[in-house]
Amino acid sequence: MPGYLSPEQKAAYHRDGFLLLENFASAPDCEGLMEQAGRLVEGFDADAHASVFSTTNQQKTSDDYFLSSGDHIRFFFEEEAFDETGRLHQEKALSINKIGHAMHDRDPVFSQFSRDPRLASITADIGMAQPLLMQSMYIFKQPHIGGEVVCHQDSTFLYTDPMSVVGLWFAVQDATLDNGCMWALPGGHRDGLKKRFSRDGQGGVRMDVLDASPWPDCTPENGYVPLEAKQGTLILLHGLLPHLSGPNRSPRSRHAYTIHVVDGACDYPASNWLQRPAGDPARGFGI
Ligand code: FE2
Repeated sequence: MPGYLSPEQKAAYHRDGFLLLENFASAPDCEGLMEQAGRLVEGFDADAHASVFSTTNQQKTSDDYFLSSGDHIRFFFEEEAFDETGRLHQEKALSINKIGHAMHDRDPVFSQFSRDPRLASITADIGMAQPLLMQSMYIFKQPHIGGEVVCHQDSTFLYTDPMSVVGLWFAVQDATLDNGCMWALPGGHRDGLKKRFSRDGQGGVRMDVLDASPWPDCTPENGYVPLEAKQGTLILLHGLLPHLSGPNRSPRSRHAYTIHVVDGACDYPASNWLQRPAGDPARGFGI
């Protein structure tokens, strides 16, 4: 099963905490994901299920709609999508921040894309014993209002013991400095987990600070690098890698699809926000 990544690529991933694989997905595959995401949004009743997603205000994310989305396809709006009266500034299709969190299991187009045998090889190459597709998201990064994602580690949100989360991030459209590409701190995955987001046992969520030292400001002088990515690029992200993306103030969207894989050989605590029903657990690539 292993054998997709070269020894040099594996070494770069372990050294830097990320790896870019250009031309992983074809243009027609990317267009197919865009079209399917458009169809899903078209079928979504925005008025009935408004829920604003924000990484700068975790309280908003603690609603039931979010917490029970682990085995569903649900829709989350941009923070700046609404005016003072609660109406959308622009049409629904240009107001959604993301779709999540089980597209890989609940939608046939995304399921087929997510279970590409090459992804099984790649996750084996970087040392995962039993990769499980735990979470998927389609991120729109809309023109003009696409919100920032503050510096974070994905293991904050999907914790395992030992830590095992790997992000598979696909550029469905070109991601550039102008439209809010990701930035990362190479090697930062070796410095430990700073925060943990979990269920508080009372129907809400909590954020525990494990290391209060702040991230350095996101500048090239501080070592951050932009992860500009042409359409079809796959970026592997170590779960402890500090990464972020700025707002999109450009007229061009920056669509991305991302899958978070955990190792089934590790403990996945019941306190993680994302839970699957007992009879419908997270599955691997070949299942
Ligand atoms: Fe992330």
